[in-house]
Amino acid sequence: SKLVGLVGWRGMVGSVLMDRMAEEKDFDLIEPLFFSTSNAGGKAPAMARNETTLQDAYDIAALKRCDIVITAQGGDYTSEVFPKLRAAGWNGHWIDAASTLRMDKDAVIILDPVNMPVIKDALAKGGKNWVGGNCTVSCMLMGVGALYKAGLVEWMSTQTYQAASGGGAQHMRELLTQYGTLNAEVKALLDDPKSAILEIDRKVIAKQRSLSASETANFGVPLGGSLIPWIDKDLGNGQSKEEWKGMAETNKILGLGADFGSSAIPVDGFCVRVGAMRCHSQALTFKLKKDVPVADIEAMIAADNAWVKVVPNTREATIKDLTPVAVTGTMTIPVGRVRKLAMGPEYVGAFTIGDQLLWGAAEPLRRMLRILLD
Ligand code: HSE
Repeated sequence: SKLVGLVGWRGMVGSVLMDRMAEEKDFDLIEPLFFSTSNAGGKAPAMARNETTLQDAYDIAALKRCDIVITAQGGDYTSEVFPKLRAAGWNGHWIDAASTLRMDKDAVIILDPVNMPVIKDALAKGGKNWVGGNCTVSCMLMGVGALYKAGLVEWMSTQTYQAASGGGAQHMRELLTQYGTLNAEVKALLDDPKSAILEIDRKVIAKQRSLSASETANFGVPLGGSLIPWIDKDLGNGQSKEEWKGMAETNKILGLGADFGSSAIPVDGFCVRVGAMRCHSQALTFKLKKDVPVADIEAMIAADNAWVKVVPNTREATIKDLTPVAVTGTMTIPVGRVRKLAMGPEYVGAFTIGDQLLWGAAEPLRRMLRILLD
């Protein structure tokens, strides 16, 4: 069986990946070789079979032994190791969760339920570099990819509600610490049903504004009880990098070209960090190329893949099934609130959610491994 190098398997995305691979019995099909950036020579985890010693993740010779390398170690690792490995003549498949190589000409952004033809085409042409997409984009396309595949989308605007996990494990801890600090500040007043709500509110905002540097070290400002309408770098043109990825990656995934040429579909909007744990939500506005009945749109979306689920556009179904709490830890991608908007019959709104660690990060990687093993 193929020797598959695993790098960054202990981090948050890597751990979710390991769990999914175990659940789907991927380890039965490969010989795993576990790498470490800090504990080379140590003992590999239980999934290891013949290769039970942790390899040095910076050891090019050790990496060169692998038929396939899967990494969730992060962008700095990719930047440092990938060019050296290729320069050393390694010709294996590199499957990467980091964004470093995503927009490279010879890399494919992998999301096979959406772009299997793009993946197959690249494979046939000798492609070896496979990169997971931005979590927001991947979750969005798992939900509403059907409309793009049908060629119906003239443009799309997205307003996101992105979870703390997109920043990393430390960001999730920080969010919860902030919630705890705020609760503690007003606990006595909350316990007293006769206390004044404006007094509670005054104490909370005073605490938010005076959180210690260590309590905002990761987000830079309070997130608990607030939101942050900027994610990732400032591109200097008024757009955040996360917002830029929406159009660039959507078009690249769909094979429409990411070069902003005439075939590219405009995608733009605002990306916002909210106090959710690990599900990215987004409100979508479509301008379709023609007037399509809502029932037809819902039917197309529902039929697109095995994980998307149309949530009826009612209050009851929405608050039960279309929330981060409902979706976390599941592979389901709900799409709801589908309705025509007041601007005209071609204008359609929708709301979708995905677990950003599953479809947004780990799942496309292990599915690419399966495609390579087929
Ligand atoms: N950039 C995303 C976020 C996470 O910060 O939510 C990874 O794609």
